[in-house]
Amino acid sequence: MMILVTGGAGYIGSHVCLELLNAGNEVVVLDNFCTSSKLSILRVQEISGKPVLVEEGDIRDRAMLERLFQLHNVTAVIHLAGLKSIKESHANPLSYYDCNVNGTMQLLIAMGNAGVKKIVFSSSATVYGSPRSLPLSETHALAPINPYGRTKLFVEQILADLSLANPDWRVGILRYFNPVGAHESGLIGEDPIGSPNNLMPYVAQVAVGRRDHLNIWGNNHPTSDGTGVRDYVHVVDIAAGHVSAINYLDHGQSFEVNLGTGNGFSVLDVVRAFESASGKKIPYIFGPRREGDVSSCYADASAAKKLLGWKAHRDLSAMCLDHWRWQKANPDGYSGRAISE
Ligand code: NAD
Ligand code: UD1
Repeated sequence: MMILVTGGAGYIGSHVCLELLNAGNEVVVLDNFCTSSKLSILRVQEISGKPVLVEEGDIRDRAMLERLFQLHNVTAVIHLAGLKSIKESHANPLSYYDCNVNGTMQLLIAMGNAGVKKIVFSSSATVYGSPRSLPLSETHALAPINPYGRTKLFVEQILADLSLANPDWRVGILRYFNPVGAHESGLIGEDPIGSPNNLMPYVAQVAVGRRDHLNIWGNNHPTSDGTGVRDYVHVVDIAAGHVSAINYLDHGQSFEVNLGTGNGFSVLDVVRAFESASGKKIPYIFGPRREGDVSSCYADASAAKKLLGWKAHRDLSAMCLDHWRWQKANPDGYSGRAISE
């Protein structure tokens, strides 16, 4: 199969490309590289020994999309391209609706025109908003509390309407919990722009000496040690979930599932696991709770297992070891390596 991966140069996208290639698919990446590096694709080719076709462009550019579908014999789309900072989405909601919602609209129209009707979409646990019950199952109310989360929910609803009106469309919605870690080669991984908002990349930058200490947002949450609890899931497991989803859509109906482990770990659990993986001390300071943070969030991961036969295999220790291998080899992310690559 020839799969179009939008956002394929990004953190999750690069791992998805690799898993698709390893499973025998051909891959064409569409990316405008606004938050990623072209090096990630070169590294995916290096690890897999297989070529990746790259189209540089914006998902909002319909004419370009129509040309792309004419040029490549795409059988399915994995749609990861989008903006993902909650903070930025509060400051600039229109750019989030434009990129994430309008961009997806242009993609879906171009797909329809080209007769490509199979899509897997990157959604997020953020669509649930503040958990009313745990673990979070797919039947939990959908009530995102920030513009970014609403862009994800709107796209989910557009896709649901589309597949309801046209049963020949097959839609797979994957709600990721907290993707962390990196490919075991240490060649591809997460490379956030500026100061990381998320926990694991921040901890990794402390370990590698780019930052002095970690600020822990709150030590008075109603959790075992007072720090926030999340469902961290290895990015390679997440990537494998996309291959399962695409394969399932060959015969199965549209679906939405959580991709998580079902286990919750606190910030202090992560700090200890990372210290042991890296052999580095992670100094930390307790600060106030972060606005919009929930105390605990973890998945009911049973639907993905039942429907797709997918489950996460890698534990927190493997997540930290792999994240550290990437960070240690690439202390400044992709920008730190020689340009000659
Ligand atoms: P990322 O920023 O590393 O990757 C996003 C990719 O999309 C980048 O390569 C970027 O250049 C590209 N892109 C953005 N806007 C584009 C546009 N208009 N046209 C073409 N390309 C564009 O982020 P990621 O962590 O790999 O996330 C991938 C997807 O997964 C996103 O949709 C994100 O919302 C979703 N998601 C991520 C997480 C997470 O914790 N990383 C959690 C839940 C959902
Ligand atoms: C954040 C987003 C969420 C998004 C997810 C994955 C917010 C409010 N939520 O979720 O919508 O889907 O990332 O991209 O931004 N922490 C610290 N210090 C730090 C960073 C984080 O203590 O420097 C704590 C947080 O308070 C939280 C835990 O670590 O308890 C995990 O935080 P993070 O990695 O940002 O993930 P989420 O909060 O789940």
